[in-house]
Amino acid sequence: MAVLVTGGTGYIGSHTVVELLNEGKDVIIVDNLSNSKEMVLLRIAEITKGEIAEDRLSFYEADILDYESLEKIFSENSIDSVIHFAGLKAVGESVAKPVEYYMNNITGTLVLLEVMKEFNVKKIVFSSSATVYGLHNVSPLTEELPLSTTNPYGSTKMMIEQILQDVYVSDNEWSIALLRYFNPIGAHKSGRIGEDPTGTPNNLMPYITQVAVGKREMLNVFGADYNTEDGTGVRDYIHVVDLAKGHLKALQYIDNKNIIEAINLGTGNGISVLGMISNFEKATGIKIQYQLVERRPGDIATCFADATKALKLLDWKAKYNIEDMCRDSWNWQQNNPDGYQ
Ligand code: NAD
Ligand code: UD1
Repeated sequence: MAVLVTGGTGYIGSHTVVELLNEGKDVIIVDNLSNSKEMVLLRIAEITKGEIAEDRLSFYEADILDYESLEKIFSENSIDSVIHFAGLKAVGESVAKPVEYYMNNITGTLVLLEVMKEFNVKKIVFSSSATVYGLHNVSPLTEELPLSTTNPYGSTKMMIEQILQDVYVSDNEWSIALLRYFNPIGAHKSGRIGEDPTGTPNNLMPYITQVAVGKREMLNVFGADYNTEDGTGVRDYIHVVDLAKGHLKALQYIDNKNIIEAINLGTGNGISVLGMISNFEKATGIKIQYQLVERRPGDIATCFADATKALKLLDWKAKYNIEDMCRDSWNWQQNNPDGYQ
């Protein structure tokens, strides 16, 4: 029995596929390569020593909106469960192109769920986001807080969570984990897979590493007047390998059960932007040039997880510290200054 991983050549997906293969699972990736490169597959094979990956990993270049392609994948393979990463994820772009975001993320998920139902596959782990906690909840954020969003990207996550809740109510043979990620950074320790943003990075860590490698002149720190320890925004950064391992624990948890649970995947620690700069400098010995600028619209001051539910239900806890995250992000950037190009 295999795990189908949608979006499996992407940043979090590729790290999760490595962990699945390492655990002895058979894996099928479906990805339309809209935000990833086929080369990721070679890198995964390299990391998992080739022979493992060749036997146990298959790849379909297909769009999850394409019903027939999904039916073909489900009929050609014996699929037991799905980890659903595929989606568009840039907040600013989602404001400019809402229809594209709703179409891709929501319709894509609906098509996937239809085909899963057709083939009687009823176990799914979904990539949600801490963005569903909105602007007004106070950290540490617990799973039962009221949800709200401020942009179409976030709304797709909140709506898909609702859709999955409704699916479960309609047929409680389903077993569903809604994983709410905080801020994934870092890379596999090999430096062979990592985050490869297109164009100018929106997120803090890839921007820092691009300044470090000399691709960008200086980091703009968005806002120094927040009500935080040093005035800059505080977030819960989590190593992508810890996050990947959380998916294996979630798969294990939903196996042989009929439940739906929303679960935070974060460390429970908040770090400010200036704190990140100094941690990066300490871990790598490289000075990061920065300037303080205006706040970025839509940003909140502080966002970090209450991570106790994941520990209780999944027996999962983040292991890597901020120094590991900075070192591994830098190792990836340094070895791949132009990403997968
Ligand atoms: P990513 O863009 O690297 O990976 C997503 C993958 O999905 C890409 O490889 C892309 O080509 C593929 N894809 C997109 N639409 C598709 C479609 N219609 N059919 C087939 N493949 C499609 O993103 P990521 O950072 O790995 O994020 C994975 C998931 O986690 C996303 O759903 C994202 O919204 C969610 N998430 C990410 C973060 C983050 O900070 N990276 C935080 C919270 C939640
Ligand atoms: C962003 C997304 C959020 C998504 C999350 C994880 C926005 C508005 N929100 O959140 O929906 O779930 O990523 O992918 O895009 N910062 C700088 N300079 C930069 C970049 C960031 O100072 O060049 C600051 C931000 O103001 C913030 C912190 O660094 O305080 C982290 O930013 P970022 O990495 O973009 O993550 P989020 O803001 O948490």
